[in-house]
Amino acid sequence: MTSNDDARTCRRLPGRRALVTGGSRGIGAAVARRLAAEGASVAINYHSNAQVAEALAAEISATGATAVAIQADIADPEAVGTLVDESAERLGGLEILISNAGIEHFGALREITPADFDRVFSVNLRGQLFAAQHAARHVGAGGSIVLMSSVSASTQIFDHTLYASSKAGVSAMVRNLAPELGRRGIRVNAVAPGGTATDMATEFAHRYRHPDMPELPPETAMNTMNALRRLARPEEIAAAVAFLASDDASYVTGSTLAVDGGYF
Ligand SMILES: NC(=O)c1ccc[n+]([C@@H]2O[C@H](COP(=O)([O-])OP(=O)(O)OC[C@H]3O[C@@H](n4cnc5c(N)ncnc54)[C@H](OP(=O)(O)O)[C@@H]3O)[C@@H](O)[C@H]2O)c1
Repeated sequence: MTSNDDARTCRRLPGRRALVTGGSRGIGAAVARRLAAEGASVAINYHSNAQVAEALAAEISATGATAVAIQADIADPEAVGTLVDESAERLGGLEILISNAGIEHFGALREITPADFDRVFSVNLRGQLFAAQHAARHVGAGGSIVLMSSVSASTQIFDHTLYASSKAGVSAMVRNLAPELGRRGIRVNAVAPGGTATDMATEFAHRYRHPDMPELPPETAMNTMNALRRLARPEEIAAAVAFLASDDASYVTGSTLAVDGGYF
């Protein structure tokens, strides 16, 4: 049984409207498919890959669900506000934000520049804060905001300080937003995936390696770092996101849910 088969047997999101940032590829695309399979209408945000985003929106629309693709750079807070407003307008409202867009970075302390810092934090942390801020203008009681953290936030990887720090901020963000948004009946959580088979992992898997580890092919090396000894499928992360977006998680807020195959 696949995650989408699971979704067909439990359509938890009929009538809900969701924005998925960075929804054109990888984990975000799996989330868009999963939310739509569970009955939600989805706005799929992308940065530069219009063709892929439009193709995904067409694929989801062909199943009978509503899906639209919307370009915006999550690093630009003003563009984030416009994205959220346009999503609510085109879908007719907004109950769910999945703030997924993120970028990877590897580099030793001596190599990190202020420009690197700004680039990584503007998407991974600042972008997620303003996505939540703007979504909270639309989302009402019963709504759900899910941000994207990483296993990196709570582990040690060589040369991964900048990315890991940006993701650690996400967990602090959801913990502290929870009481503020909880007063309005809105839940806010994060998911912390482990290594997941996406373009990002393909490009950077070889960097997930401590210098004293034996030379292994990148994926094999990553597989030695988790109890299940494999990468996640994007659909496995999407299943956790859909849970947090749904009323099944009605008493879960301020949490970061690890979906990392038992990372160690
Ligand atoms: N893959 C992993 O092993 C892993 C593990 C832990 C956490 N994560 C986190 O999970 C999230 C998704 O990762 P992924 O592996 O699916 O990444 P991916 O394969 O690199 O896909 C990234 C997605 O984000 C979009 N994006 C990138 N920069 C953007 C920006 N400035 N504005 C708007 N959209 C932007 C891309 O759009 P375009 O197609 O238009 O470029 C694409 O849809 C990220 O936050 C990542 O940090 C991933």
